[in-house]
Amino acid sequence: MTRLRLLVLGAGAGGGVPQWNCRCRVCTLAWANDGRVRHRTQSSIAVSLNGEEWLLVNAAPEVLAQIKTNPQLHPRHQDGGTGRHSPISSVLLTNGDIDHVAGLLSLRESQPFDLYATEEIHSILRANRVFDVLAEGVVERRALGLDTPFQPLAGLEVRVFPVPGKTALYMETPDLEIGAIGQATVGVEFLSEAGSIYYIPGCAGMNDALAQRLTGAAAVLFDGTLWQDDEMITAGVGKKTGHRMGHLSISGPDGSMAAFEALDVGRKIFVHINNTNPVLIEDSQERRAVEAAGWEVAYDGMEVRL
Ligand code: MLT
Ligand code: MN
Ligand code: ZN
Repeated sequence: MTRLRLLVLGAGAGGGVPQWNCRCRVCTLAWANDGRVRHRTQSSIAVSLNGEEWLLVNAAPEVLAQIKTNPQLHPRHQDGGTGRHSPISSVLLTNGDIDHVAGLLSLRESQPFDLYATEEIHSILRANRVFDVLAEGVVERRALGLDTPFQPLAGLEVRVFPVPGKTALYMETPDLEIGAIGQATVGVEFLSEAGSIYYIPGCAGMNDALAQRLTGAAAVLFDGTLWQDDEMITAGVGKKTGHRMGHLSISGPDGSMAAFEALDVGRKIFVHINNTNPVLIEDSQERRAVEAAGWEVAYDGMEVRL
């Protein structure tokens, strides 16, 4: 088994940093290009073993810009058959939210790749006919079983597993269940020579099964959407709590920092960070608090080798 290369393409949550219509405290600094707040695109990573073939995990609305700024993802040559090429040979989705699927529409142009997701997430794409631009016979849609290993790249063993979550925002119904366990929201496990590496950009809570699974992991990239549950409300930019959006907040006795304390994880990295989150301000108290607890705050272009 060789070492895994993991590239953070977008460390922001839905909306990115700054968000197009936002003047919260963090976005105001970002709009001013203040050095304390890096701009971040929406949520996506890419994973490779050899640096030549890449698995894209989630397809953010900014996927074209993300490809442009990361030379690893540039086309290398003209393929004999199609005249086109991309190092991205597979795409995996962790849920059906806009920040994770909208980029699929930019991956058209007759480029073959495998599209991996649970049956429930595939059914959301099938119900939205605009995704038919990923034409049958070009893009191979592969349904994933939970906890069933598969190899999206030669030699790379991957599993998806359920985490507490909810259905995509635009699929919500009055009987919506927050923290549901099923096919709607999954985490991803990559097996590398360093051990297991997890990517969990959306998670509504920690439970015993998840805590057990993550214990001793080499690295976990985890949902860092909000610092505190009522953050969108106190920032004056929304009416929903983090819980209502299906995200476990970072701080507090029930937050992710506390939940990870006993888990003995090698590297702990926050991803999917909402633009209201003060950990994005590099000299903030909140940033110092997460770093003191052993967490890293992901940024676009961050490369993790394990
Ligand atoms: C989320 O993570 O809660 C969603 O990305 C929200 C959204 O789609 O705007
Ligand atoms: Mn999201
Ligand atoms: Zn903002």
